[in-house]
Formats: sequence, structure tokens, C-alpha cells
Amino acid sequence: MTTALYRRYRPETFGEMIGQSQVTEPIMTALRGDRVGHAYLFSGPRGCGKTTSARVLARCLNCAEGPTDVPCGVCDSCVELGRDGGGSLDVVEIDAASHNGVDDARDLRERAVFAPARDRFKIFILDEAHMVTPQGFNALLKLVEEPPDHVKFIFATTEPEKVIGTIRSRTHHYPFRLVPPAPMLEYVQTLCETEGVTAEPGVLSLVVRAGGGSPRDTLSLLDQLIAGSEGTLVTYARAVALLGYTHAELLDEVVDALGAGDAAAAFA
Ligand SMILES: Nc1ncnc2c1ncn2[C@@H]1O[C@H](COP(=O)(O)OP(=O)(O)O)[C@@H](O)[C@H]1O
Ligand SMILES: [Mg+2]
Ligand SMILES: [Zn+2]
Repeated sequence: MTTALYRRYRPETFGEMIGQSQVTEPIMTALRGDRVGHAYLFSGPRGCGKTTSARVLARCLNCAEGPTDVPCGVCDSCVELGRDGGGSLDVVEIDAASHNGVDDARDLRERAVFAPARDRFKIFILDEAHMVTPQGFNALLKLVEEPPDHVKFIFATTEPEKVIGTIRSRTHHYPFRLVPPAPMLEYVQTLCETEGVTAEPGVLSLVVRAGGGSPRDTLSLLDQLIAGSEGTLVTYARAVALLGYTHAELLDEVVDALGAGDAAAAFA
């Protein structure tokens, strides 16, 4: 058993993120200039790096050498919040899909009162924040508006319009986007090299196309292709079959047949 590619390659710093410079650059600048807000809203399509960025931001804020735009990677907080870390007491990740009511909001309010156990800030990451009920959000309103100095909020959601306006207006809102094909292709190419995998020409373009701009979906597809390949070679034929595309050769033949006005060949 190996862990999924998208987990093994989850970025631990903003520098490792691809295609989201509209988010990472201003946040890194704010971290360098010590101008970090108290509440953030990360929105955008699934698998584009919202949860990852929330964790990276928490890591930057609580690094012993921080707040910094490049976490040191070696202090207790950095290790705990790294890819293989077990999580930190001062960074509370809440799955809003299952903790979305007034009681959960009250519980969070009580926890926010306490100073951080060890690090600089107590950071609450509310993932899938669109699932929080309006009553839940209302119970959080005062706290999100004027949190104690040691508290930071990061909301992550695919549906920012479902986060009530009064909460949204108290956050810095950063929209994540689908990653364009060129940087994605470059990313999967480097990743294959690191993994010692060879992909036949055309394979990675197909993977990028099928991934639809979501790094997670793209890595999952690549993972599946690698898993189903003999040795370390991912063949074009296998990729075409799995991803449900028409083989480029077949397309060429049809186009040639059309060009030549050869109906028999086209139908064949
Ligand atoms: N911008 C990105 N750059 C590099 N890898 C990414 C990026 N976005 C997503 N990933 C990959 O996809 C995985 C899932 O990302 P995640 O942050 O959970 O997405 P989201 O919360 O937006 O659905 C990560 O572990 C990482 O491997
Ligand atoms: Mg997420
Ligand atoms: Zn550190």
C-alpha cells in the first residue's frame, strides 16, 4: 500500500503551490509586512488548494520563527503542521459539514476564549464552511468580528455565496481558481520524474485534460494510471482506454478520410 499521490505531494509552503499566485502572493506579502487579518475566506472549485492553503497559512502564522511567509519547517509547530505531522493543539480544523449548528458555534466560542497552548495564535480552520447553518454563523458573528488578539479564523468553501454576508464582509476573501493546463502539465512532468515514472508522449496532456484544472483530480488520475501500469512505463494506449478518449491515431485517420472524401474509410 502506498499513500495517494495528492497526499504525498500536498504543499507545505505557499511556494510549492501551483497556479494560485493571486492568493499566495498577497498573503505572503501580508505575512512579511506583519499585516495579517483576523479572518480569511478561501473559496473556489474543489481540489484547488483551499484546505492546503489554510494549513500552510496556519503553519506560517505559528512558526516559532514567525509569523513568516516561509515557515522554518523544523520547529515543533512546523513539524506538527507538516505533511506527516499529527496536527497541532493550537490549530483546530473543524469539518463544518458535520459541525454546523448553534451548539457547535457555542462550543467554538468557548474554546476561543482560552489562550493558545504553546504557539502564537489559536487558529480555527472551518472547512466546507458553506455547510454552517445561518444560525450557526450568527452565533459566531461577534467572535469573527472582534476576536481576541490570539485568535485567527480561516473559512474554506466551494460555495462562498452560502456563507452569510455578515460573516463574509468580516473576512479577507481570496478566490482560488482552476489551474491552467500549462503549469499543470509542468507540475505532473516534474512529479513523474520525482516518482521515477515514464509516461509515453501525449499521456500527460490527456491526464491534464481529464483533470479539468483541479490538481487533486489530476493527481488522482495519474495515480490510478501509474498503479495500473506495468513497471514504470505509463503507455498511451492504457491512458486513452482509462480516460475514455479517442486514440489520436483514429482521429487522424478519420480526418484524413474526410479530407480525401473517402466515405468507406471514414465509416470503417
Ligand atoms: N494549487 C495547488 N498546487 C499544488 N497541489 C495542489 C494544489 N491544489 C490542490 N493540490 C493537491 O490536491 C490536494 C487536495 O487539495 P486541497 O487543498 O484539499 O483542495 P481543496 O480544499 O481546494 O478541495 C493536495 O493535497 C495537493 O496534492
Ligand atoms: Mg478542502
Ligand atoms: Zn517553524
